[in-house]
Amino acid sequence: MQAAVFREINQPLVVEQRETPEPNSGEVLVRLKAAALNRRDYWITQGRYPGIRSGVIQGSDGAGVVEKVGSDVDTAWKEKEIVINPGLEWGNDPQVQSRQFHILGMPADGTFAEAIIVPFTAIYEKPSHLDWHSAAALPLTGVTAYRAVTRAKVNEGSVVLITGIGGGVALMAMQICQALGARVLVTSSSEEKLHRALEFGAVGGFLYSQDDWPKQMLSQHGPVDTVIDGAGGAGYRHLLQVTGPGGCIVNYGATAGPPETMDLFKLFWKQLKLIGSTMGSPDDFQQMLRLGSQNNVTPVIDSVHSLVDVNKALGKMMACEQFGKLVISLS
Ligand SMILES: NC(=O)c1ccc[n+]([C@@H]2O[C@H](COP(=O)([O-])OP(=O)(O)OC[C@H]3O[C@@H](n4cnc5c(N)ncnc54)[C@H](OP(=O)(O)O)[C@@H]3O)[C@@H](O)[C@H]2O)c1
Repeated sequence: MQAAVFREINQPLVVEQRETPEPNSGEVLVRLKAAALNRRDYWITQGRYPGIRSGVIQGSDGAGVVEKVGSDVDTAWKEKEIVINPGLEWGNDPQVQSRQFHILGMPADGTFAEAIIVPFTAIYEKPSHLDWHSAAALPLTGVTAYRAVTRAKVNEGSVVLITGIGGGVALMAMQICQALGARVLVTSSSEEKLHRALEFGAVGGFLYSQDDWPKQMLSQHGPVDTVIDGAGGAGYRHLLQVTGPGGCIVNYGATAGPPETMDLFKLFWKQLKLIGSTMGSPDDFQQMLRLGSQNNVTPVIDSVHSLVDVNKALGKMMACEQFGKLVISLS
């Protein structure tokens, strides 16, 4: 099978021929139809991720057809169309993942390949409203966004600000918030992406590159109940400014690095809650699929690439050019 393999930091992934693996007990072999990129894949190529090893097939997101099942796996899974939950060994505590928790695509071989072995506990029937590209684009951003949104207790009538709307998780968080009946405001570096977000139902959009965006947002819409942020960085101080009393800021990433300042006076005077959120439990994954199916949530796809063009897709992600998911078509 063909696979895109991490060899060296700051070097392109190498697309090479690999032996198709055989499933052991408790495992399945999935013939992948499509995979999708996450920022994690870019961080790994830059050496900015723990536990990096040379020779690993990258990629966390994938969807395909179960080709073989190992012993102890129900043969009813054979030929089933599935999506893969990339978060493995969450553990028993719904509050937090176990120390064994890891994500497909480093250190375990990932989805940038024509086939993959995963535990049968990681596969879920593909939502019938999704085609292969959309199904592959869903898992990692879907579960991350679902857990972030539900931990913030977003519900009908909530007003939510989502930062950096061009991002995969951000766009999925917007769709999940909308499915729950919330009103969504967004920020972006790009006017064009703000327009796209408005077309997708955002009620307002602001350029985070303009220092007075919080003022503009507050004067037009008032404070928000919840912020969903994956950026951090210098702009983090604005998030405490635009969150209303008793509100909540959920953070799932730090694309722009750690916050430069933290206004503790705003934090305690406004009785704000800060929540950190990572991926999600198997239960979160199942509930994300259910909510998505009930509301026809379909990931926004920026572009589809072939496996040999995986480095072009990574370049697009590096430049934050995308609006939505970068997908790899595998068959
Ligand atoms: N904890 C977890 O479980 C988890 C899971 C998934 C991702 N993450 C992390 O979350 C972050 C986003 O992941 P992703 O896969 O959605 O990435 P992505 O698709 O590459 O999106 C990144 C987006 O970040 C936005 N951005 C960049 N600088 C920003 C800034 N200064 N202020 C606001 N937004 C900014 C940009 O939005 P515009 O293009 O609109 O400007 C960009 O499109 C990454 O840091 C990733 O590592 C964490």
